[in-house]
Amino acid sequence: MSDKLIIFDTTLRDGEQSPGASMTRDEKVRIAKALERMRVDVIEAGFPVASPGDFEAVQAVANAVKDSRVCGLARALDKDIDRAGEALRGANAARIHTFIATSPIHMKMKLRMEPDQVVEQAVKAVKRARQYTDDVEFSPEDAGRSEIDFLCRVIEAVIDAGARTVNIPDTVGYNLPHQFGALIRTLLERVPNAGKAVFSVHCHNDLGLAVANSLSAVLNGARQVECTINGLGERAGNAALEEIVMAVRTRPDIFTCHVDLDATQIVPCSRLVSGITGFAVQPNKAIVGANAFAHESGIHQDGVLKSRETYEIMRAQDVGWTANRMVLGKHSGRNAFRTRLQELDISFDSEEELNAAFARFKDLADKKHEIYDEDLQALVTEANLAAENEHIKLVYSKVCSETGEMPNAVVTLWINGAEKQGAAQGDGPVDAVFKAIESIVNSGTQLTLYSVNNITSGTDSQGEVTVRMEKGGRIVNGQGADTDIVIASAKAYINALNKIITPAERAHPQL
Ligand code: KIV
Ligand code: ZN
Repeated sequence: MSDKLIIFDTTLRDGEQSPGASMTRDEKVRIAKALERMRVDVIEAGFPVASPGDFEAVQAVANAVKDSRVCGLARALDKDIDRAGEALRGANAARIHTFIATSPIHMKMKLRMEPDQVVEQAVKAVKRARQYTDDVEFSPEDAGRSEIDFLCRVIEAVIDAGARTVNIPDTVGYNLPHQFGALIRTLLERVPNAGKAVFSVHCHNDLGLAVANSLSAVLNGARQVECTINGLGERAGNAALEEIVMAVRTRPDIFTCHVDLDATQIVPCSRLVSGITGFAVQPNKAIVGANAFAHESGIHQDGVLKSRETYEIMRAQDVGWTANRMVLGKHSGRNAFRTRLQELDISFDSEEELNAAFARFKDLADKKHEIYDEDLQALVTEANLAAENEHIKLVYSKVCSETGEMPNAVVTLWINGAEKQGAAQGDGPVDAVFKAIESIVNSGTQLTLYSVNNITSGTDSQGEVTVRMEKGGRIVNGQGADTDIVIASAKAYINALNKIITPAERAHPQL
């Protein structure tokens, strides 16, 4: 039996540190449940001390997730560790991840501490975290630029203090694969008590090497990889979970370890994260990009038709791509609807929620005759979004757009119980509808992102719109889906407005 490679997902923590990728507590829970369905081993849910909103999100994830271990990040400070311990109290399996920088530049310029003080603080932090859980992870931040003798000293000390995972971050994405692999090998050979801990890696993608560096580390003995869905993360991002998992799965001839994930959940999870954060996936992105399995050249198509393996090293369905299969139509009944949702692992908390989703399905089937799995997933997202829209709802919208004339829009909104109407002209129909909404709400927000994606192929596909808006340093994302992209845009705008007027859960995920 080969070793297990532990997959530690940090989409909800490091991923959220991408500027603009902030998520609400409920969105974090939705992503955490999707990661749990994928059977991710450890979910880093956030940085509890960062803000009350972060604390609540970690707490909510800890309470909602049953099968994956839930982790909270903490600097090597008592107040951080206590806050993480508290947030994780409801978890079935909890981990505290504590860190302090060990590179000369970070110790001198950022921490203004002597190396001896850093060792002392690291040991103290691990011991304190052990009072909350046996599962403590320690990271020497900026390990990729730390001096090897000092790194060995810190690591030996934290393992003695009770750390059971030692994570080696290439915080600034500076390392090259052969060098990073050698670093892991050296640590495993030189740290006398290395056998008592799992060695992990956490690579950033500043030079586009996060996945290569992580895999090189695995080949040299690392048995946990920290990664994110779609490679989301601080600056250029983190190692992409989907690439790590599929590299290990696809090359058992090279890797002497295995991953226990359900890879068919990769594409749905990638879509969920991209929709919630508004970070679109580039079409040529490995594994989860729209073109990752599309063959354009005639020679390739001919080869694949004769034998798939001529040009494909993985099967699209193994990572969760479905063939846009028509599953339901306007004549499908409630039972067929419920059965297909069950097959897609989608469940509802109550019969009323199922009934409401079925009513929305019937509406959609009237407009769009062929309903695909992706449409069903979007329906469920819509239900979650509708629940978020507590203060403002779209009642009615009419948009006129004709050659040579400025488009104009009329909208009626329900605002905290009262209906209000507004009208405006705009450069285009979407601009007009946003201005009409603003003529009513006058939100004072700034729109910083607008993106549309089709959910399935064909011009009758639903459009999925993401908008990002900012007000007073607070950033939120809103989503909406509809067969009419102007209506989808209005829904996304209203979803973002609902979030921005809800009391701030956090100013920014980072301290
Ligand atoms: O990049 C980094 O060093 C981190 C640590 C907190 C592990 O995110
Ligand atoms: Zn990081």
